[in-house]
Amino acid sequence: MKVLIVGGGGREHALAWKLSRDDPTLELIAAPGNPGIASVARCFPVAVDKHKELAHLAEDEFVDITLVGPELPLEGGIVNLFQSRGLPIFGPTREAARIETSKRFAKDLMVRAGIPTARASQHSDARAAKAALAEFSSPVVVKASGLAAGKGVVVAQSTAQAERAIDALLSDRVFGNAGREILIEEYMDGEELSLFVITDGHQALPLLAAQDHKRLLEGDFGPNTGGMGAYAPTSLATPELISRVMSEIVRPTLSAMRDAGSLFKGLLYAGLMITDDGPKVVEFNSRFGDPETQAIMPLMDSSLLELIAAVAGGGSLSRARHPEWKNLSAVTTVVAAAGYPDKVRTGDVIQLPAAEEGVVVFHAGTAIDPATNQLVTAGGRVLAVTAVASGLLEAAEVSRNHAERVSFKGKQLRRDIGWRELTRGARVT
Ligand code: AMP
Ligand code: GLY
Repeated sequence: MKVLIVGGGGREHALAWKLSRDDPTLELIAAPGNPGIASVARCFPVAVDKHKELAHLAEDEFVDITLVGPELPLEGGIVNLFQSRGLPIFGPTREAARIETSKRFAKDLMVRAGIPTARASQHSDARAAKAALAEFSSPVVVKASGLAAGKGVVVAQSTAQAERAIDALLSDRVFGNAGREILIEEYMDGEELSLFVITDGHQALPLLAAQDHKRLLEGDFGPNTGGMGAYAPTSLATPELISRVMSEIVRPTLSAMRDAGSLFKGLLYAGLMITDDGPKVVEFNSRFGDPETQAIMPLMDSSLLELIAAVAGGGSLSRARHPEWKNLSAVTTVVAAAGYPDKVRTGDVIQLPAAEEGVVVFHAGTAIDPATNQLVTAGGRVLAVTAVASGLLEAAEVSRNHAERVSFKGKQLRRDIGWRELTRGARVT
């Protein structure tokens, strides 16, 4: 079998790494890939938004299945194009991906289907948006409806800050058309949890829930990022909670998507807030999360390839083997470049520590400098260092220590990944 992975980040490296373990005879290719992915796949320099070129690549290389990593090509309709050419692909169509690409679409769907989420009002006019602030107490959340790489959200502590966020999105268009429509949302208090389900549009199989660390700084302070680290499993995700999320959120969402004429096939990512009133949806994504994927793939004991192949091939998951998990903990520490998440500096030379038992270093924003042949930084999140151990505390230490030994100028990392779970543990014992 031959699989094409579209993307070139840490998530795609983790997916490629897992698939190559599921079937050592598997032929893997990636576009564009990165220097880490190149250790398990042949990489082709085709950008993720070049859908036609990607379809040609899949045809020329006789690819059996294409797996799409990032949201951008999904929004652009890569799945529609591949399907129209009879090329099996894992991921939702452009219409189904609206659950991520339009927060407005997602909110309307949730309200219609009675799915628990924050109360919100939607605006495209700054004056009306500011007037609507009166209906919300502080803090209030202001967010762009479109894709903004996890950065189009402001949790405003005051009306003045909320008004500034409204102006930035609607008047100054700091996120371009992604901020043409905005949502003003009630603030939900609680802990966040990421639950991924693999779905054929009807059946849904949950993967191991993980917790992301979206803020740049330790203790969950500073600006929002794409994610600075993750761990799994978490005691927050009890079997009861997951079964509640499946029955109150995931299944009604898939059913509402079918009713809307947009069958959702692929990976549905439920970004949840676990509040005192139970789990509520913060957002949906239409693809694997980054960096949660880097934490959960090394814990997956059963085949990911089988599930991806079943869905991409147009089959059903009704007889699929449920995912199985190692009885271990994983912690992923993201090592980010100077300037992230604002203006990222690239081209800094990276030195990696020697390989270590129980540690996998997934490449995200790295490249080989053609002039010097050295590994250099090439994106905001540079590496994701995952450690697997029998307990969370040990996994956190090993991940942190390994990430500390990565060297490049201006590197940033959080040294507290897993802190919520670790302090929970301390309270219990
Ligand atoms: P989103 O892009 O919608 O996932 O938002 C990014 C981050 O902003 C989330 O992971 C939360 O930390 C925070 N956030 C978004 N919406 C809310 C909300 N209604 N209440 C509290 N925090 C939120
Ligand atoms: N971990 C956040 C995301 O993938 O959107």
